[in-house]
Amino acid sequence: MHNRLLEPIEIGPRRLRNRIFISAHVPGFADQGAPGKRYISYHRQRAAAGVAMQITGGTAVHRSGLLTTAPSALVNLDDTIIPGYQSLSDAVQGEGGTMLAQLAHSAGTLSAELLGQPSWAPSPVRSALTGNVPHEMSSAEILEIIDAFVAASGRVRAGGLDGIELLSAFGFLPHAFLSPLNNRRTDGYGGSLKNRMRFLLELVEACRPAIGEDRILGIRIPGSDMTPGGLEISDMQAVAQALENTGQVDYLNVIAYNNSLRFGRALHWPATPAGHELFTELSAQIKAVVSLPVLVAGRITHPDQAEAVIASGQADMVAMTRAHITDPEIVRKITEGRADDIRPCVGANTCIRARFQGRPVRCMHNPYVISRNTDHSPSSSNDLPPVTVVGAGPAGLEAALTAAQRGHSVRLLERSGEYGGQLRLWCRVESQKELAAVIDWRVRQLDKLGVHPEFNQTVTADQLLNIDDGIIVMATGAEAVADAIPGDGSVVQTTPVELLNDPGLFTGRALIRDQGRGLSALVAAEALAAQGSNVIVVTDEPAVGLDLDLTVRVPAYDRLLNSGVEFLPNHTVAAFEDGAVKLQHVFTGQETVLPSIDVLVDDHIMRPCDDLMKALAGSDRIVRSVGDCVAPRTVEAAIHEAAQAIAQLTPA
Ligand SMILES: Cc1cc2nc3c(=O)[nH]c(=O)nc-3n(C[C@H](O)[C@H](O)[C@H](O)COP(=O)(O)O)c2cc1C
Ligand code: SF4
Repeated sequence: MHNRLLEPIEIGPRRLRNRIFISAHVPGFADQGAPGKRYISYHRQRAAAGVAMQITGGTAVHRSGLLTTAPSALVNLDDTIIPGYQSLSDAVQGEGGTMLAQLAHSAGTLSAELLGQPSWAPSPVRSALTGNVPHEMSSAEILEIIDAFVAASGRVRAGGLDGIELLSAFGFLPHAFLSPLNNRRTDGYGGSLKNRMRFLLELVEACRPAIGEDRILGIRIPGSDMTPGGLEISDMQAVAQALENTGQVDYLNVIAYNNSLRFGRALHWPATPAGHELFTELSAQIKAVVSLPVLVAGRITHPDQAEAVIASGQADMVAMTRAHITDPEIVRKITEGRADDIRPCVGANTCIRARFQGRPVRCMHNPYVISRNTDHSPSSSNDLPPVTVVGAGPAGLEAALTAAQRGHSVRLLERSGEYGGQLRLWCRVESQKELAAVIDWRVRQLDKLGVHPEFNQTVTADQLLNIDDGIIVMATGAEAVADAIPGDGSVVQTTPVELLNDPGLFTGRALIRDQGRGLSALVAAEALAAQGSNVIVVTDEPAVGLDLDLTVRVPAYDRLLNSGVEFLPNHTVAAFEDGAVKLQHVFTGQETVLPSIDVLVDDHIMRPCDDLMKALAGSDRIVRSVGDCVAPRTVEAAIHEAAQAIAQLTPA
């Protein structure tokens, strides 16, 4: 039951229809810095499904505090944004939703080189993350920025949105004034906490008349910097009370960390295996000292978790932000008693990776982030050919599911005795267990549609052609092969796939060669370290897992280095002999010999399993190949390709 979650709530002048909101995030769909068709459709879809309140991504109000130079993010620097705001508010309000604009100034948290101009901040404190040393704001510049927030608030009002959220978290400007880590000023804006909160309080007082009494004014605050010497919960309780005492604030939205710290930007939106309801203890402590509504975010992914947060009084509203990227229909499904059908957010953070790349948001296992959800889109045709899918890995499962949802009759043939392909093996490692939901959710949905896989089916091309005259979808995956390294056979060579299948077979000291630059070498290292093996990960790149974004890399490094795994960058594996592996430094050519290596794990040489696909090439049947059997790639690529291939086959 999710009764508390579905209760309405008064937030300032507005009554919201339930307790679920989508916190500010940049979906990367803006057109030239303003809400365009895709941006609006993204938020409309979520409002239509019942989410109570949504907040735009952080929107820069002044050039000295840009969040990006990409035109795919909103900027509120002049009146050109107003028509876009108008269309956005019409769309969301038309669906019964509430839409706020988050107004932001990035202070010194982002790279000045990327932004192409100096950042302004309270003090010229170097960002430990980007190295940016911002310009110290003068008193006149402080007033200029407050004016910019006021002007931006006026545009939000003119655009008909329901209000603003001032971003005073993540080291952004008001937070930077609050935090002793960022604020070293000796004037009336620095020193004591009272002085450090002056900027935020002045900002609130200035913005309220601009947004108006009939709109919402909320503030996003950290419950703590989570760093010695930074803001602590007791400081933030005092800030919360001061904000409440202004009488101008309608809610406080609690989060944590500070992006100007070395790891702050990695930890406030962490990937799996981070826990859930990450910051509810902080929100509860803020709630204990104010009577304002308190909101919270942080890996609240399932309605049961959300209900528990509300029922226990830890917060008044819960953000389910990434959860709504994965499934826009959460509220509808809860209301219809179908919580089980919610496509689960598994914390893969493909969405955040896209954000870091300045690209439109993507989800590892929702191919429909912005378009209609196929759960509700059976084909209008009632004469659909049957579909036979070969392979029940992520691509095969998605192809079978999309086909069944469209109305095809589906057979799903799997060579092994299990669903999930290599992803199933991957999920055996402790840190990756949550990803199993990508498989399990599809299996449950298929089951409801009456599609049950046929296991242990090794089919030939002839057998396939004789099954029926329908569509054949090849999703036969790829297999890992070990690279040929010159050696005398004294070291056991294997691949992550073989290893994850039965780590117990590979004992002793292990060297893992990271060639994929992603997680797979690190996952193999974790599997071996968990059974007590001594593990070294070597790469010819400057760092292991080079392509991982920081929300995945930082926790993975933390896990592995603290469980005794060693990293050896800038080295290639040259040869092995008598149980010793010879490495060569990629720049100096210097040789290093690692003695007593028992196992050499060679990451990421994948060969497509495409024999069947090739054998069917000349047939006159409709054959589609999807996923790794076309070219070995990510789970995301496999799922998206499969969904698209089926959608293109059948009329909507
Ligand atoms: C793609 C993406 C972009 C984000 N951009 C912003 C932003 O502009 N401003 C902000 O305050 N938070 C931003 N966030 C953080 C979210 O508001 C939220 O705190 C975070 O996703 C944790 O909540 P969740 O676990 O429910 O996703 C972003 C999150 C994502 C996934
Ligand atoms: S990519 Fe992962 S974390 Fe992001 S929305 Fe999708 S499932 Fe959630």
